[in-house]
Amino acid sequence: MTSNSTGAQGTVLKETRPADERPVIELKAAGKSYGNIRALHGVSLEVHPGKVTCVLGDNGAGKSTLIKIISGLHQHTEGEFLVDGEPVRFSTPREALDKGIATVYQDLAVVPLMPVWRNFFLGSEMTKGPWPLRRLDIEKMKKTADEELRAMGIVLDDMEQPIGTLSGGQRQCVAIARAVYFGARVLILDEPTAALGVKQSGVVLKYIAAAREKGLGVIFITHNPHHAYMVGDHFSVLRLGTMELSAARSDVSLEELTNHMAGGTELASLKHELAQVRGVDVEELPEEGDLTAPVATSSEGKS
Ligand SMILES: Nc1ncnc2c1ncn2[C@@H]1O[C@H](COP(=O)(O)OP(=O)(O)O)[C@@H](O)[C@H]1O
Ligand SMILES: [Mg+2]
Repeated sequence: MTSNSTGAQGTVLKETRPADERPVIELKAAGKSYGNIRALHGVSLEVHPGKVTCVLGDNGAGKSTLIKIISGLHQHTEGEFLVDGEPVRFSTPREALDKGIATVYQDLAVVPLMPVWRNFFLGSEMTKGPWPLRRLDIEKMKKTADEELRAMGIVLDDMEQPIGTLSGGQRQCVAIARAVYFGARVLILDEPTAALGVKQSGVVLKYIAAAREKGLGVIFITHNPHHAYMVGDHFSVLRLGTMELSAARSDVSLEELTNHMAGGTELASLKHELAQVRGVDVEELPEEGDLTAPVATSSEGKS
């Protein structure tokens, strides 16, 4: 018999895949309502070791709600959430962390005036000496932080540098390196490139790839299909709380992904508005209802 650990009406299908193909995290038709506001509905998603799962969507699509469920801030109200094949329901972020699920929020929880090494070990400081003479092992922490950052390709001149003096991209990278060092198996990144310029975004994308190379499963939240396509293995597009696309990299092109993000109806009304503006060639914009087709890139077939 299968286990009966799901909610009232949930049925559990027996896991038939071999262990090494099993996802670390799996959502099955999961959803979340805040009172009578349904923020998320029917979302299915898998996170595998050494793969980047991108979650795309416009503002209000439900991206943050989705990661709050996985990171233990909120609980799902529909469907199933499994970690290593076991149904879970986290009450605190600590429980998610204990399962190796680390989240890097956009507004990073760092202390700007503290040195880089101090931030790296914040809350998990290394100590030396026997009790009651235990004290912080500052030299070891500095050395370890430096080595770990270098291993991720981040070379800082001075570990004493206040973290607030680093660029936004570098701070994101320190947070990623920290999660990797403290044994994360799954790394959730909430819009890590949203506030960054092109060059710094590139740096962050490089560390997302580095985390994947280290075997972590990564959930990369973004509204930028170009950034997603540079590192993604799987793409899930959310719209108004439901999943409107879930596709492996081999099944979707950047053009299709961009088109899904832009959305058919929104594009049509934008096209209509732009048609009133002189100097905009609306013929170059995709057609309404052309959601699944790639954006026309040439004029062949026309005229
Ligand atoms: N705590 C909350 N209470 C009520 N509604 C919420 C709450 N958090 C999010 N929502 C609603 O859920 C929807 C999805 O929001 P969110 O997950 O923040 O989207 P995104 O991160 O993609 O911009 C929005 O309509 C938002 O207003
Ligand atoms: Mg959000």
